[in-house]
Amino acid sequence: MDIDAKIAELRAAFEEDAARLSPDRLRARYVGRQGRVRDLFGLLRSLPPEEKGSAGRKLNDLKAELEERLRGLQEDRPALPAVGKTDLTLPGRAPEPGRRHPIYRTWDEIVGVFTRLGFDVVYGPEIETEQNNFEALNIPLEHPSRDAFDTFYLERPHLLRSHTSPVQIRTMRERRPPIRVIAPGKVFRPDTPDASHSPQFHQVEGLMVGPGVTFAQLKGVLDLFVKAMWGPEIRTRFRPSFFPFTEPSAEVDVSCFICGAKGCPACKQSGWMEILGSGMVHPKVLENCGIDPEENTGFAFGMGIERICMLKYGIPDIRLFTENRFAFLRQF
Ligand code: PHE
Repeated sequence: MDIDAKIAELRAAFEEDAARLSPDRLRARYVGRQGRVRDLFGLLRSLPPEEKGSAGRKLNDLKAELEERLRGLQEDRPALPAVGKTDLTLPGRAPEPGRRHPIYRTWDEIVGVFTRLGFDVVYGPEIETEQNNFEALNIPLEHPSRDAFDTFYLERPHLLRSHTSPVQIRTMRERRPPIRVIAPGKVFRPDTPDASHSPQFHQVEGLMVGPGVTFAQLKGVLDLFVKAMWGPEIRTRFRPSFFPFTEPSAEVDVSCFICGAKGCPACKQSGWMEILGSGMVHPKVLENCGIDPEENTGFAFGMGIERICMLKYGIPDIRLFTENRFAFLRQF
């Protein structure tokens, strides 16, 4: 028997197994009481006496070598936590549940009020055409009111919509009266950020068109809306205004819910806070969408979600919405 060949063979087998077995299993298979090194010792008996001594020494060296290898393998593995030193009774770290961003919370609240009044929710794209964002809304190029809707232009004829009013156009081209829709979404204007301006914000557009839709209905719907948002004691005030796509146009204020319309810093002592723009859909706009203004009338309104949310919760700076500060967001 060639003891050197047996040793070489066993060493090779050990290395092969070392790549796939745990150190504990390796130890049992090679140097344990029933391991393969032990088997080799068993073979010594069959050797002639003068060879036994040197063969035995070689096997002892082999065993020491494999044990050394096993110690190395054991150390390479990550240490298991010492259970005795770990206090398993300590409370765990509770995961903090996420919550809805205040803007989307307000979005849902506004949309909820109008869907309960029978309005459908519709959406339009954030990239619009000049046609839908301006021309069809009776805001021609070179008309000074275009400045009021300062715009991010993309490659002609595209732009980032500067208000949700183009969804009025899309809806009136797709649907026939009676129409009753609400259109929430993102809008964009190249404004320098400050406490009340942000280049991207959100609006909700409302539109109702059909035979005999009146300004009184606009007042009634918006009155219901502000009472649902702020409470039954809240009143509305309509001030004459101008938008190229509505005639007549009105800006709507709510009575200050902080001071009860007596006058305070929040309402700048006026007792009122402006919340949206509105009016009766301009006959030209109906015509642009293939709706006969002799048979149909309509009202429309548009409000900024950030503004409503700031008024509702007393948030002083629009930039807080996008700064991702937990201390702020956690409050909602
Ligand atoms: N689109 C107008 C704005 O962004 C708001 C508005 C919508 C006014 C509908 C009247 C009717 O300021």
